[in-house]
Amino acid sequence: MAKVTIDGRVIEVPDGITILQAARMIGPEVAPPTMCYHSKLKTSGGYCRTCLVEVTKGSEIDPRPMPKLVASCRTNVMDGMEVGNLSSPKVIEARKSVVEFLLLNHPLDCPICDQAGECHLQDLSYEHGSSKTRTDFERRTFEKISIGEKIQLHMTRCILCYRCVKVAEQITDGRVHGVINRGDHSEISTYIEQAIDNDFSGNMIDVCPVGALTDKTFRFKSRVWFTKPVLAHRNCEKCSGNVNLWFKGDEVLRVTGRKDQWGEVEEFICNTCRYDKKATSDWTVEGPSHVNRHSVISANHYEVFTKPTEFKLNDVKPLAIQEGDKS
Ligand code: SF4
Ligand code: FES
Repeated sequence: MAKVTIDGRVIEVPDGITILQAARMIGPEVAPPTMCYHSKLKTSGGYCRTCLVEVTKGSEIDPRPMPKLVASCRTNVMDGMEVGNLSSPKVIEARKSVVEFLLLNHPLDCPICDQAGECHLQDLSYEHGSSKTRTDFERRTFEKISIGEKIQLHMTRCILCYRCVKVAEQITDGRVHGVINRGDHSEISTYIEQAIDNDFSGNMIDVCPVGALTDKTFRFKSRVWFTKPVLAHRNCEKCSGNVNLWFKGDEVLRVTGRKDQWGEVEEFICNTCRYDKKATSDWTVEGPSHVNRHSVISANHYEVFTKPTEFKLNDVKPLAIQEGDKS
């Protein structure tokens, strides 16, 4: 076991885990934000630098501080390590720059983007970015390419986090897309613009932290904060069948995987559940979902007013933000 101190909070953690995992064990108040790390995808992390932290004491044996800020998702803990996240002015300053860097080429099209309201980059900029931009040059644009019937790619919104590439590599039968070119010419592309049509490809939509990959069957149907997410399941031979249904009125507008408190998918779901089961009768509804992220959806906290046993779809109405519910 290793004793680690993060922002003054001490915890004993198993050897070999990362600073990020240790911080998550303490809780969201000390956990660094992440854009590319995803706990269910091997080798994810190390691309976006939003999780930078300052190691002020390396370990009990070698207490020297680490000379530079380190990516907490890629740095292992050591016994006696002391880490600054929000308590470190250097981290706060560096994170602002990382947000600025991620936004350099990101279009400000949130008003028409389907990801608005559940976009990790929106949350990140709001919580860690600066209020002004220092750039006014033209942003990078790309030719639109089709990557299949069900998934829309908006390359201009991509932050090159590689999560979708890892999904294709690790969850689907065969990867037909990846990051091509280098530097600011890098882009996500299918090598020969093939359709991504294998059974678990829809999970790329769920892991994309921004609106670069969106569900064509849901596009422009509703702002996400007007929908009602509920937990539901069905017997599925391909996946666990545990999903979130997003209702508007009595209509299921979309089906997604369930996400944990870090906004990461808990269990990947198949394309049949995602695209072909959009009737309420296909599902056993369990009750309202709890959205843990600091998002406009969770701000509604509608589920506290309805116990699952009393749950009826039409009872669930978005409510005004309650005092103290803003986090
Ligand atoms: S398309 Fe989305 S998931 Fe894929 S690399 Fe870009 S931002 Fe990440
Ligand atoms: S989350 Fe650690 S580098 Fe992206």
